Parts: sequence; C-alpha cells; structure tokens
Amino acid sequence: MEAVNQVLLTLHNIIRWVVLILGIVVVVRSFLGWFKKWEYRERDQKLIPFFTGVFDMQILIGLILYFTKGWGGVLMNAPGDVMKTASLRYFAVEHWMMMILAAVIIHIGSAQLKKVTESLKKYKRAAIWFSIALLLMLASIPWPGMTSARPLFRLFGIVF
Ligand code: HEM
Repeated sequence: MEAVNQVLLTLHNIIRWVVLILGIVVVVRSFLGWFKKWEYRERDQKLIPFFTGVFDMQILIGLILYFTKGWGGVLMNAPGDVMKTASLRYFAVEHWMMMILAAVIIHIGSAQLKKVTESLKKYKRAAIWFSIALLLMLASIPWPGMTSARPLFRLFGIVF
C-alpha cells in the first residue's frame, strides 16, 4: 500500500500544478475575451473541457488517496476528535469538501456556458464561475507554512 500511496501522492502533487496553470490560463483568457469583446474562440472551446477533465481526474486520485491513506477511517472512527483537531480536520474534512465544491462550481460554470451562444456572455460567465473555483482551489491547497503543509513538489521519495 505504501508504494501505491507514493505513486498516487506523486500524481496528485504534480497534477495540482497542471490544474492550477490551466485554471489561471482559463480565467485570464475569459477576462480578456470579456473585456476585449473577443468572438468566442475555438481554443477556449477545447481548453475548458480539458481543464474540467484534468480537475475531475485530480478529484478521483484525491478520493482514492482519502481511503488508501486512512483519512476516511480516521473520520468514521473518531469524528468528534477529528473535528476538534485542526491537523486531522484538514485532510479528513476540509480539503476534499472545498475541492469538491470547486469541482461542482466548474461543472455548473461549464453548463452555464453551453446555455448561451453570444460570445460576450460566454466569456463573462466563464470569468465569473472559473474565478470562484480557482480561488477556492488556491485556498484549499496544503501550502508550505500551513499546519497541514505538504511538499511543493514530490517525485516518489524526492520532495521539496
Ligand atoms: C483539484 C483538486 C485538488 C487539488 C489541487 C489537491 C491538491 C493536493 C496537494 C497539493 C496535496 C499534497 C500532495 C503531496 O503531499 O505531495 C494533496 C494531498 C491530499 N489530497 Fe488533495 N487536492 C485536490 C482534491 C482532493 C480531493 C477531492 C480529495 C479527497 C476526496 C483529496 C485528498 C487528498 C489527500 C488524502 C491527500 C494526502 C494527505 C496526506 O498526506 O495524508 N484531494 N492534495
């Protein structure tokens, strides 16, 4: 199980950077399209589903990790203690809830885009929904300096 966790953690760590970069590109392009009144571009039509797909993959790896690393068990066995202890609460409850909320917002945003045909409305909706999701994601990553900090980069045993 330790080897499986190392592989999943490595993937989860690296995909975090991919999701973050894609999210930033999507948000910047959406604001540019909105303010510069772009015609809705094919690049965005492809980029948004790609961003959503990578985000969902990260959620799936996170869900597997949640059980293989024992966080699900910790919460089920001692919910009271978990809620009282910040370091346990972070991964047992807060991290995944916020990330799933971000995923829900991304999916609502994508569906909202499909409902309109006008380019300006598409970019405006994308800018609003994806900015909220990006902020939630940024706020829910275990950055260095936090109680539940995790490495900025992980490649199996190599971390920094
Ligand atoms: C896009 C969404 C997500 C991002 C960007 C993200 C990001 C991260 C990062 C950067 C780490 C630290 C990795 C490391 O130690 O090298 C981490 C750890 C973890 N994440 Fe996520 N995560 C996301 C979604 C989720 C979800 C939905 C779950 C659970 C359902 C989850 C469960 C975990 C677990 C269990 C750990 C390992 C904690 C430990 O070290 O024991 N993540 N996540």
